[in-house]
Amino acid sequence: DQDPLVIFTPSGKRGHFAPGTKVLDAARQLGVDLDSVCGGRGICSKCQIQPSFGDFPKHGVTSSPDHLSEWNSVEERYKSKRGMIDGRRLGCQATVEGDVIIDVPPESQVHKQVVRKSADTREIVMDPATKLYYVEVEEPDMHEPSGDLERLCTALAEQWDLAHVRGDLRVLTQLQPALRKGEWKVTVAVHHGDGLTEARIMQVWPGYYDGAIYGLAIDLGSTTIAAHLCDLRDGKVVTSSGIMNPQIRFGEDLMSRVSYSMMNPGGAAEMTTAVRTAMQALINTIAAEAVIDPALIMEAVFVANPVMHHLLLGIDPVELGQAPFALATSDALTLWATELDLDIHPSARVYILPCIAGHVGADAAAVALSEAPGQSDDLVLIVDVGTNAEILLGNREKVLACSSPTGPAFEGAQISSGQRAAPGAIERVEIDPITKEPRFRVIGSEKWSDDPDFAAEAGQITGICGSGIIEAIAEMRMAGLVDAGGLIGSAEQTGTARCVPEGRTNAYVLFEGDDTSPRITVTNGDVRAIQLAKAALYAGARLLMDQMEVEHVDRVVLAGAFGAHISPKHAMVLGMIPDCEVDKVTSAGNAAGTGARIALLNSAARREVESIVRQIVKVETAVEPRFQEHFVAASNIPHATDSYERLRA
Ligand code: FES
Repeated sequence: DQDPLVIFTPSGKRGHFAPGTKVLDAARQLGVDLDSVCGGRGICSKCQIQPSFGDFPKHGVTSSPDHLSEWNSVEERYKSKRGMIDGRRLGCQATVEGDVIIDVPPESQVHKQVVRKSADTREIVMDPATKLYYVEVEEPDMHEPSGDLERLCTALAEQWDLAHVRGDLRVLTQLQPALRKGEWKVTVAVHHGDGLTEARIMQVWPGYYDGAIYGLAIDLGSTTIAAHLCDLRDGKVVTSSGIMNPQIRFGEDLMSRVSYSMMNPGGAAEMTTAVRTAMQALINTIAAEAVIDPALIMEAVFVANPVMHHLLLGIDPVELGQAPFALATSDALTLWATELDLDIHPSARVYILPCIAGHVGADAAAVALSEAPGQSDDLVLIVDVGTNAEILLGNREKVLACSSPTGPAFEGAQISSGQRAAPGAIERVEIDPITKEPRFRVIGSEKWSDDPDFAAEAGQITGICGSGIIEAIAEMRMAGLVDAGGLIGSAEQTGTARCVPEGRTNAYVLFEGDDTSPRITVTNGDVRAIQLAKAALYAGARLLMDQMEVEHVDRVVLAGAFGAHISPKHAMVLGMIPDCEVDKVTSAGNAAGTGARIALLNSAARREVESIVRQIVKVETAVEPRFQEHFVAASNIPHATDSYERLRA
């Protein structure tokens, strides 16, 4: 006679268990995904299960109500206090007494979060560094004179397998009232620590704490700072928000900020204060939007390019402005939030992803974590387009990285009518190849400019943003308004009065202007600025391809907020990226932000990114003579005639 058979759905996992085995224990032994926060004490109700009764010939079992132990007083108490769906049981109370089929409803499964990758999605198993534990602590007695903290730590070790946990002074001040109020039952938030830091109790609540704790994933960019507030229990993004980086007033791009620091004594400290103050303002906004106490934010994860990384940490970035571009540290860091002047939970930790090299930062490391080129069978080129393009190329065998000084033209700077991507900016452009007439769309409106309702909906047109200028120049090239060398033709040469003389060259009038909006032209200077930027991007990618000894890549991923807006076709017409089938060019959106979120929700991903970064081969564009060669060769639009003809056809 065999022990009763238990079959779990939807996983299909099955096994025989001695009568009297708790369903929660059976699930654990089989590796079935069944949640428990209170450790099986009938308090959290996370372990709810739904047994199915009847004959199941397919499985060869008959499952009946008396094959589970009777409804007990703990379940009764839970149901009367908080309610439970009929037919459900608590997995930590019901025991197996005969063959039974048990369904684990979605809300009882340990939460997983799915993040989008360019090619597919990645599942993140929730395992954050800061977690809540419910524990029952021995009461003190006169014969056993140990302290309350020591008995709490013993309970954590026995009930949750958490060894060597410590509590700081702040926790000690909360501990005694909490233990007595909770009648020796408390919930604690523990930061697990990592190789660098020990596990610490951060907060104690009397009894079972049913509320949330939060974490922040922050992408600290040169232009914008974006943050996601996540619930550390289930990984859900509660609120996302972003602000402009206030350091823009010290310089648009990274190098000008480095020079600000070189030229102005105390400049770096000034920029550090600016960014930390802005961070706190962003955190306060996000907490207010989510209607939570910022003190419940127990952790933050940062990704940033090397200059922003150093400025956040209060390190003068001057060394990053000159060869050999030495980082103060390239390793991942775990710090106290207070060290960065962040006013969140007073014992909160901050994890900062490792940097790859002096020009390739923690943001690129985060992209490598979320896009996982090292797990790709095909050869993938990932470009994170911003003021500096960060480029990764690789597959299972190896991954290379470099950065390329594209300058701020792709963000609309250095362009005559250029502006940041904001309402009123032209972002999409089409030019009729026969009539040479343009139509366009502006941010904030869904209508094209040839729609009768366009003016009413679009409002004032203020300029052209990065994706708009790329499309405009690519469309001009396809309409024969600009030649491969980047020269805009005259009205006679092109057959359109929209080409007008400007200085010693010509410009194309995209929008004539009206009472409210200025005239918007694409000048030869604009074409030149984009040529330089795209040649730098292309040359960086080619350099990595040389090192990899390949002529082609299988797919291209455009990352970064801007990457999300570039149309692959126009990027190819311009020659921003090496030749590749257009349908193999995809966007990963803010992949760096996604990487930060992965590292926030799963502490193993931190070790993963640290190991990925150690294995990435760094290529320094500044000292590579071939970079210059590729750069010069790539300034034509596009770089290679074959792809242009193909795209045009
Ligand atoms: Fe918490 Fe069952 S595990 S109620």
